[in-house]
Amino acid sequence: MMREKIHEQFQKHFGGSGEFYASAGRINLIGEHTDYNGGFVFPGAIDKGMMAEIRLNGTDRVRVYSVDLEDSAEFGFREEDAPSASWARYVFGVCREIIKRCGDVLKGFDAAFAGDVPLGAGMSSSAALESTFAFALNDMLELSIDKFELARIGQSTEHNYCGVNCGIMDQFASIFGKAGSLIRLDCRSMEYKYFPFHPKGYRLVLLDSVVKHELASSAYNRRRASCETVVTAVKAAGHPSVEYLRDVDMAMLAEVKGKVSDEDYMRAEYVIEEIQRVLDVCDALERDDYETVGAKMYETHHGMSRLYEVSCPELDFLNDLARECGVTGSRVMGGGFGGCTINLVKDELYDSFISRAVRDFSAKFGHEPKVYPVVISDGARKLE
Ligand code: GLA
Repeated sequence: MMREKIHEQFQKHFGGSGEFYASAGRINLIGEHTDYNGGFVFPGAIDKGMMAEIRLNGTDRVRVYSVDLEDSAEFGFREEDAPSASWARYVFGVCREIIKRCGDVLKGFDAAFAGDVPLGAGMSSSAALESTFAFALNDMLELSIDKFELARIGQSTEHNYCGVNCGIMDQFASIFGKAGSLIRLDCRSMEYKYFPFHPKGYRLVLLDSVVKHELASSAYNRRRASCETVVTAVKAAGHPSVEYLRDVDMAMLAEVKGKVSDEDYMRAEYVIEEIQRVLDVCDALERDDYETVGAKMYETHHGMSRLYEVSCPELDFLNDLARECGVTGSRVMGGGFGGCTINLVKDELYDSFISRAVRDFSAKFGHEPKVYPVVISDGARKLE
């Protein structure tokens, strides 16, 4: 359906037809705000993403149409050609980041795209968009950029063209995602491992609070700055080899108590604990011990809410409700400040949990949460 919709607009705006490429949004089972701290994350691509029809146009300009926003943009490849629409900056940024790495290799193209990842829900719609275009241009122009670099192109786009100092998790998941598997990534070494994820007797479901935090990107950048402040303090306290919070343990953190703000201290405490939780969850999964997986998810929520302070009343409410309903695990997912909780729910509890969550949340906040059952799917790809 999405493909037809895109093609119709491609024909209307540019005539003829192009190649189709797609990429995915992501979930993350556990490991939040750990990526830019050199820690572990545990994401997977989902069956919601972005899709684009693209064709080289024989010029040195890009013409792109957003089907969902009913908006078009046109730009060249020089830094000063940056488009003003924020959605178009993702596409422009990908082009610029390719040029920075590979030189003058790009050719003008026409594209129409659409997506079904809800925007601002913490499922990485922007990474899906970046990955779609990075993957497509690499494939169409035979640039031989490896998959890690494709992910970094998306990440640098966020840093340099969209104002978000993000880690690598979202773009990594969007590029490397594989149906049926979560991926544990060590963000320091970039080693990764696929974990087939078919929890027998359980389901994963996202509850979207539909809350979007206006200042999410600056709050996100401030969290990252706090982590860096603590790393600098620990280094100065006699640990010169420390590079990331990943390299810091609780005893080292205690050495800088009083030298960093209470707030920065709390942020670091959360991150150090969260990195360990990812490893604990992987161990538990190898034993099919979903009770432990779920308990760790609740611990993450608590840490994100009280120490990292990236939750909000709506997400705390959904988390409390999950606990009351006996849901195995629940926590705020992604960057926070709104968006979704991810819930690990026993099959037999699923229907009653969802109906109660919808009812009670609506009664309290005046709108329904959205419900997205998780299907772990493939990442960036060309469509036949
Ligand atoms: C956002 C960022 C990621 C990651 C998460 C939190 O999704 O883009 O790099 O930091 O927040 O885990």
